[in-house]
Formats: sequence, structure tokens, C-alpha cells
Amino acid sequence: RWPENVQIKEVGPRDGLQNEKARVATADKVHWINMLSESGVKEIEYSSFVHPKWVPALSDAHDVGKRIKRHPNVSYSALVPNMKGLELALETGIDGASVFMSASETHNRKNINKSIDESFPVLQEVIEEAKKAGKHVTGYVSTVFDCPYEGRITPEQVVRVCDKLFAFGVDDVSLGDTIGTAVPSQVEQLLDVVLSRYPQESIIMHFHDTRGMAIANIMTSMEYGITRFDSSIGGLGGCPYAPGAAGNVATNDVLYLLHGLGINTGISERKLQEAALFIQNKLGKTLPSKTLASAASQ
Ligand code: HMG
Ligand code: MG
Repeated sequence: RWPENVQIKEVGPRDGLQNEKARVATADKVHWINMLSESGVKEIEYSSFVHPKWVPALSDAHDVGKRIKRHPNVSYSALVPNMKGLELALETGIDGASVFMSASETHNRKNINKSIDESFPVLQEVIEEAKKAGKHVTGYVSTVFDCPYEGRITPEQVVRVCDKLFAFGVDDVSLGDTIGTAVPSQVEQLLDVVLSRYPQESIIMHFHDTRGMAIANIMTSMEYGITRFDSSIGGLGGCPYAPGAAGNVATNDVLYLLHGLGINTGISERKLQEAALFIQNKLGKTLPSKTLASAASQ
């Protein structure tokens, strides 16, 4: 019933930190990412080459990228909104580039200052150049279930964006429940449409956990044969242009679930817990992961 292996992308250093008020010093981010690299996780999104005015918490992306120790078994990626971001990311060092846009017109405008149709040529150029440079390219699609401004988003709106991104050459697409409101029946409705068009291996699910539904949504996705998920250590995170959205599903909780079901991830829960406690201490606040809280109190 369940897959043998599941691949987790750790997005804490990007999605996790982008919305935190407390600033984490660059040296601490570097130390933390190095801890994550030693945990067995195979993909880490280490930062974002966006405009520093839009996401000040990640304005040290270049420094972080230059200073982290690259583990041979880990693929390091960063978020890039345009050619300027891609150039900086390539200069700094990436294995993968992640472009992003929304299935919702209003969220797209708020997040990247363009309409959906205006975003396509910008992303097309970024995707083509990143592929020419030999990089893995992921296309994030945000607000695939609900939008904080427009409400319900249909699967047709989502595949309209996915079709374009795949046509431009992305290797895979990550479908984002940006505001963490979906329930499993919404996941089923979307995956019914998505998986009738694209292979399972090219789809990643990216759940935020605002209403505590992310674990249920991951279970439903696995029933559909999805084996790739984004998550954030301790449950850090949120989108600065999606008011009220909580962090990503916590990697610690996902590992507890997957390992309990007998599914391999290659990640050490103990090492991940140490890394979560490190960043929790630097941020000076308790992270939302229930697994982390109960493991730390034992
Ligand atoms: P803009 O103001 O429209 O950009 O912002 P522009 O192209 O008009 O340029 C304006 C100025 O910005 C110029 O400088 C550019 O050089 C500079 P000036 O000539 O005025 O001095 N600029 C840049 N500087 C540094 N890095 C860059 C860059 N690009 C232009 N890359 C832009 C457009 C996309 C840049 C802006 O809207 C932006 O940075 N947005 C980022 C928003 C963001 O990071 N949101 C969070 C990530 S998405 C997310 O969290 C969702 C996800 O997790 C999935 C999910 O949960 O659903 C992925
Ligand atoms: Mg996100």
C-alpha cells in the first residue's frame, strides 16, 4: 500500500526562515545548513535570490551559498524569480533552481508583481537558461487549492500553469498548499486531474500546516503514488505574501509518520532533532512540530 522510499526536500532554510521576524546570523544559518547536510536529507533549499526588500530575512543568500559545506550526497537548490536571481544563484553555486508562480492571479501579483501571463516569458527564460547550465529545475505552483484573496482555485487553473512550466522544460513541479487549508478530498480532486496528465515522479507536494491537515494530505498523496514532499524542520515557515499562513509541515512529524509506516527516507530523526533544537534556540521561540516537542522533553 505504501511506497518503499519517500524523498524529502528540506525547505526550512528558505521557506522556513523567509517569514521569521527574528534575524538569524549568517554564520548560524551556515552552521545549521551544515547540520542538515549531515542528517541524510538529499535535497536542501538553502535560500532565495529574490529582491532583498521583498524578503529581508534571506538577503544574505549569496553569503550563505558561498559558505555552506557542500555534502556530496546532497543537492542544493535556491529559489529564483527572474534572470537576475538566476545569475546570482549560478555564481554562488546551485545544483537546482526553483522558479515559482501562482495558480491564482491575485496571489501571483502580490508575490511576484506580475500577472500570470506576464510571468510566463520571464520564467521561460530562467528555466531555459538554468537547463542550459545543466541544472535541475523545479517549478513551484502556489495556491493550488485555496487563495487568501480569491478563495477556491480549480484543478484546471493549476494545470494551466503546470502545462506551461513543463513545456518550458522544468524537471518537476511542486504543488503548494500555500495557506494550509486543503483537506484530503481537495488533494484527491487535484491529483485526479494532475496525474492524468503528468507522471507521478514529476509531482512534488508542498503542504503548509495552518489547520493541521498536512499529515492527512500527505497520506492521501501517497495513496495516489506520490513519493516526493517538501517539508520544513520543526514546522518553520510561511509565505510573506499569504497573510495568516503557517509554516510548512514539519520534517520531524513527516519522518515520524513515514518511519512508523516502515517507509525509508535515509534521514536520521536524531540528527534532524538536533538541527531543529539549534535553530529553535537561535530564533528564541518554540517551533510548532509536535514530534519535536515530545522528543525534546524525553
Ligand atoms: P519587481 O519590483 O517587479 O522587480 O519585483 P523589477 O524587475 O521591476 O526590478 C526592480 C528592482 O529590483 C531593480 O533594481 C532590479 O534590479 C531589482 P533597481 O534597478 O530599481 O535598483 N531586482 C532584484 N534584486 C535582487 N534580486 C533579484 C531581483 N530582481 C529584480 N532577483 C520580484 C519582482 C520578483 C523581484 C519581487 O517581486 C520579489 O523579489 N518577489 C519575491 C517574493 C517572495 O520571495 N515570496 C516568497 C517565496 S514564494 C513562496 O513562499 C511559495 C512557495 O513556498 C510555494 C507555496 O508555499 O505555495 C514557493
Ligand atoms: Mg511554501
